[in-house]
Amino acid sequence: MSILLLGKLSEAEYAVWQQHLSLHLPADETLVLASQAYDKTAVDIALVANPPAGALATLPKLRFVQSLWAGVDRLLSDPSLPENVPLARLVDPAMTRAMTECALANVFYLHRQLPAYLRQQAHRQWQPRQQVLAAQRRVGVLGMGKLGAAVAQALADVGFPVMGWSRQQGSDGLTALLSRTDILINLLPLTAHTTGILNAALFEKLPVGAALINLARGGHLVEPDLLAALEQQHISHAVLDVFNEEPLPERHPFWTHPQITVFPHVAAATDPATAARVAAENIVAFRAGRAIGGLVSHAQGY
Ligand SMILES: NC(=O)c1ccc[n+]([C@@H]2O[C@H](COP(=O)([O-])OP(=O)(O)OC[C@H]3O[C@@H](n4cnc5c(N)ncnc54)[C@H](OP(=O)(O)O)[C@@H]3O)[C@@H](O)[C@H]2O)c1
Repeated sequence: MSILLLGKLSEAEYAVWQQHLSLHLPADETLVLASQAYDKTAVDIALVANPPAGALATLPKLRFVQSLWAGVDRLLSDPSLPENVPLARLVDPAMTRAMTECALANVFYLHRQLPAYLRQQAHRQWQPRQQVLAAQRRVGVLGMGKLGAAVAQALADVGFPVMGWSRQQGSDGLTALLSRTDILINLLPLTAHTTGILNAALFEKLPVGAALINLARGGHLVEPDLLAALEQQHISHAVLDVFNEEPLPERHPFWTHPQITVFPHVAAATDPATAARVAAENIVAFRAGRAIGGLVSHAQGY
């Protein structure tokens, strides 16, 4: 049987993945690339990075799918994805570290009022603002999974009072968190329950002047609601790494909005050098009948 690497990848990217995977996969495994000819009936494991919709349904002997991305919302939205085949998302400590660094950078960016100082510099304004210490800046983290929990811990370690929210806290827990949050970080998976969760009703529950950092998925945010909340000065600033449409269209109002910072989906990229090891370890575990890391529930959507 063989392992298929399948994704929206260039020839050069296929070559990089192949090189790293061959370092970590057991010598008796056969890796085939979707960019080259291969026998579909011999594939029992697929390693996927944005595969074309319907592609996995054409593999009759498929028994395990390992995503090379952390978010699996797009994969799960493919109606032809075989439901009885176990699917694992990427849980890579290097990616968790990258996300933690990104969250720390953006919390400090907002905490130390850099958007305001950058605007002042553009107008040659020498105007000190009130200093606030981390202990007085409350951070709320939506999603306390692999990434959210690590981000919350790192923020607590540098002195911010941090609250986290996950499914078991329910909607009352969310309301309680929002009322005590100055900087809100979204690290939820995109599911039927979390789509559009960053909306007018949620923003209203935040204190006036709170800020938002969305590092999860564009589908979490109701874009017109954010623009309205910024206009009303209820939200002071938003840092957005992910968007409904990526790349963000050239004419999109977010690009030039003075209270929005745009990043091109770079919070925590998959690094083949570390992800290949994680994927190979999961494949070895799968073959041995041991527990697979990052197993996704089709029913829950994450
Ligand atoms: N921007 C980027 O570059 C980038 C990079 C990597 C990942 N991401 C995004 O980050 C997301 C999170 O990744 P992860 O690895 O931390 O995910 P994860 O380990 O699966 O954690 C998900 C967390 O969200 C909570 N949750 C799920 N549905 C919920 C709901 N309806 N209400 C409340 N809480 C809910 C879960 O609660 P329970 O603990 O109760 O299950 C869990 O705490 C990914 O799905 C992806 O979209 C973005």
